Amino acid sequence: MLDVSGYAEITDEELAAALDFSCAQVLGNLGQFTEQFQNAYSEGNFYRPIGNVDWTNGFWTGEIWLAYEYCRRNGREEDAARLRHAAEVQVESFYRRIVNKDQVDHHDMGFLYTPSCVAAYKLTGNTRAREAAVLAAEQLITRYHPVGEFIQAWGPMDAPENYRLIIDCLLNLPLLYWASEETGDGKYREIAEKHIHTAVANVIREDYSTWHTFFFDMKTGAPDHGSTCQGYRDGSAWARGQAWGVYGMACAYRYTGREDYIDKFRHVTEYYMDHLPKDLVPYWDLEFGEGSTEPRDSSSASIVACGLLEMSKYVGEPEAAFYTGLAKKILKSVYDGYAVKDGAVSNGLVLHSTYSNHSPYNTCNHYGVDECNIWGDYFYMEALTRLDRDWNQYW
Ligand code: GLY
Repeated sequence: MLDVSGYAEITDEELAAALDFSCAQVLGNLGQFTEQFQNAYSEGNFYRPIGNVDWTNGFWTGEIWLAYEYCRRNGREEDAARLRHAAEVQVESFYRRIVNKDQVDHHDMGFLYTPSCVAAYKLTGNTRAREAAVLAAEQLITRYHPVGEFIQAWGPMDAPENYRLIIDCLLNLPLLYWASEETGDGKYREIAEKHIHTAVANVIREDYSTWHTFFFDMKTGAPDHGSTCQGYRDGSAWARGQAWGVYGMACAYRYTGREDYIDKFRHVTEYYMDHLPKDLVPYWDLEFGEGSTEPRDSSSASIVACGLLEMSKYVGEPEAAFYTGLAKKILKSVYDGYAVKDGAVSNGLVLHSTYSNHSPYNTCNHYGVDECNIWGDYFYMEALTRLDRDWNQYW
């Protein structure tokens, strides 16, 4: 693994400054982004407003809830009230979206409903948020294939070209565990567990790099082949896919208690660390190393920091201290080199992320490249919050 022993960690002062500025940005954005949401990615480092129509809307509401928590904790009740009001306007929007089944025919119910509605319910007891999140879990399990034992990511359920899972889905599953706990109905948890098992058995390669997506035989459910969608090429490791793997394995352990998942977490993390440039913020695909001119994906760094901090709760010393220290080193680099520090530069929080980059070997369109993206901002705030205190997590 990359030797990070000499690297500096984010200090308490920097942590406080980062959270203060993040909250100021979120508060400053409420005028434009209460009835509307920030787009998935910025353009020229500025987000434009969109309706509640994308898979990414939950992250903006999640940022508002994190800012709300920070302000409450620091006795800023007026700011907290403004933030709560904005988040509650958005919870109503999420409620309408799931009741009307508006753009919910995909697997991203967890990304949409966990940082928005599960958070709302956990923080304020909002029963509309609870209802919306349970409906979202119900919607998510409609995408389960009992033959292949996985949740299908995208597209019509009867199309062989869509009969696949994707690594990102690991972060959609905490919604199912939450729904089982809340309703007392174990069906959500059972499906989550089947999916995790199928995903872990197939998306993690022998060298512990990961496939972005994995296809199965529609008739037999047998594993067929891996492929990429957003990565550079089929055999490479898309940086964010690997990052979803790191955080996803930490969540998988949290909910299943399976020790072998800790081991998988260790190896997937090691592969990620072994393919980082010196400043610990990956290029958009781990194929590219130090000195590359390819764009970075700073969002992966924050996602991995969250995964490390999550796993630090379950392992003994000195491993836990190592993961916490590593997360602090990653965040130091994100804070120093990537975080927005002036609202005139951007209305987001973290620059230099990559959403969708075209390569000669993928079918991606080019957008959100070397920009802020909304989950990068959210997970940056989540990682800072996790370091700031003992956080009752949304996931
Ligand atoms: N889940 C889609 C992405 O990470 O871009």
